[in-house]
Amino acid sequence: MNILSPSLLAADYCNLEKDIKEVQEAGAQYLHIDVMDGMFVPSISFGMPLITCIRKCTDIFFDVHLMIERPERYIKEFAESGADLINFHLEATEDVEGTIAKIRSFGKKVGITIKPKTPASAVEPYLHLVDMVLVMTVEPGFGGQKLIPECLNKVPEIRNMVQAKGLDIDIEVDGGINADNVTAAIEAGANVIVAGSAVFGNDITGKVKKFLEKMQ
Ligand code: DX5
Ligand code: ZN
Repeated sequence: MNILSPSLLAADYCNLEKDIKEVQEAGAQYLHIDVMDGMFVPSISFGMPLITCIRKCTDIFFDVHLMIERPERYIKEFAESGADLINFHLEATEDVEGTIAKIRSFGKKVGITIKPKTPASAVEPYLHLVDMVLVMTVEPGFGGQKLIPECLNKVPEIRNMVQAKGLDIDIEVDGGINADNVTAAIEAGANVIVAGSAVFGNDITGKVKKFLEKMQ
């Protein structure tokens, strides 16, 4: 089954509990949590204290996307804050295998993420070690950007590598996904869809339901 992971970055920060409950009740299975450090990406979003806090008001699956330099420094903190899955960027660390092992040591699911200019082949050496590959469809750092269509070409490439190795791995896409292009993302082979600005705002329930219909 395909999974919708609404991005908290676009939620109403004065009403996080209300927005999170609304996406979950409307049928979204994951919550995508974007952590930005002002170094790996130009912007700063939020960190462990916020995740610890919202963990108390929801049991939804926390899909944490670390856009931080040397993520290996903070795996313990994010694991203890309540992440269910931790995605980190291959471009952000020189110790990919060590970072994967650290995430596993806390019993969390592991995702590796690639930016638009990183080729699909970069993930191949790690596929047997991870639960998810996150393919960025915009340059990471900001919500509300336009999807870069060429990035979707990496999804079938990765899907083919995964199948050739006899593995079962989720492929998530993130950035600029909306009700008009989600079908193309699913057809390319993605099964976890992140959407921020196309979900939050007004009529969250209606927008989640529309996504889920198109993702069937
Ligand atoms: C971008 C983030 C995305 C972002 C998606 O750096 O990783 O998760 O919140 O937002 P939209 O769906 O508005 O492009
Ligand atoms: Zn993200």
